[in-house]
Amino acid sequence: MTDGEPRRHLVLVGLMGAGKTSVGARSAELLSRPFVDTDDVVEATTGTSVAELFATQGESRFRELERRAVADACESPAPAVIACGGGAVVDPENRRRLRRAGFVVWLQAPPSTLMARVGTGAERPLLSGRGTATMERLAVVRAAAYEAVADATVDTDGRTIDEVAASVLEVYAA
Ligand code: S3P
Repeated sequence: MTDGEPRRHLVLVGLMGAGKTSVGARSAELLSRPFVDTDDVVEATTGTSVAELFATQGESRFRELERRAVADACESPAPAVIACGGGAVVDPENRRRLRRAGFVVWLQAPPSTLMARVGTGAERPLLSGRGTATMERLAVVRAAAYEAVADATVDTDGRTIDEVAASVLEVYAA
């Protein structure tokens, strides 16, 4: 953890199904830290599910709320583990904030694995009713953003939550 300003938080990024929420919760437990999931924050502050927000207010409103959730999480004084919604890092301001405030780990898996994990994608408006091709497209379109924000990458394919969390803590401590 270098670059002058203290980078206190552990931040997890990656596509839908990468395991950010489950690995993040486990990592937070192991570190005895609070866990913040930006989707949960958006849902709690609006009292509306992400799917419902997309449907009734549109993606741009969701992104606005997500930006606020990222900013608040980054500014929280207690070091936390922050799981970002898959599309949060597309926004350059979010990337800047996350890099400044934390150590960013990109959880990776092939699109076919991600699709198998998210199932029907009913909770995920960008996927629902669409197939692996959509995930493949998102992987291509977002690769540069994940790469730009990440301090480290961790492969999650075929691995348990505990195994991935152990690898995350290893790179975080390195
Ligand atoms: C999104 C990912 C979702 C959620 C929203 C949009 C995306 O979060 O923020 O459906 O753009 O990739 P998860 O990555 O936690 O599924």
